[in-house]
Amino acid sequence: MKRWAIISVLLVFVFSAVAFMQPVSMAKSIANGKNVYANNCMNCHMEDGKGLEGAFPPIAKSDFLKRPPKDLINVILKGQSGELKVNGVVYNGVMPAQDYLSDEEIADVLNYINNSWGNKNLKPILPSQVKQLRP
Ligand code: HEC
Repeated sequence: MKRWAIISVLLVFVFSAVAFMQPVSMAKSIANGKNVYANNCMNCHMEDGKGLEGAFPPIAKSDFLKRPPKDLINVILKGQSGELKVNGVVYNGVMPAQDYLSDEEIADVLNYINNSWGNKNLKPILPSQVKQLRP
């Protein structure tokens, strides 16, 4: 009987630890992503994420972010060129691949843009997802 009591207490402990870990690591990822953004994206997409009309599409409230995570990861890993419609406006620019960033940095910057300037998506993008898509 006593053993069961100990096991249940342990189980409760492990489950609550896991439940708490997720939001903490997401907050950390977003915070790290802010630096990655400042160093690698801000020149084009601007500090406020609004881009530059006619040249660089906005990331703030961009409908592109509603696409599956795979598409977002690929923009960073492979770059993006040719016609692209963002919030109803057609862009035709060139974004160079940012594949020199680590899997972690790419996951962090995506978690950051997914949760900044009014964007909200608390489902984390994980470094393992980035790794899978590397050519
Ligand atoms: C040299 C300028 C440049 C840099 C640096 C750059 N981008 Fe882009 N980005 C662009 C352009 C231009 C497009 C649109 C390309 C097209 O028209 O096909 C784009 C498209 C995007 C899109 C999809 C469209 C949208 O607005 O939602 C996302 C998301 C994005 N970039 C995120 C990033 C992130 C994150 C970084 C930093 C890791 C970054 N970009 C760095 C120029 C840049």
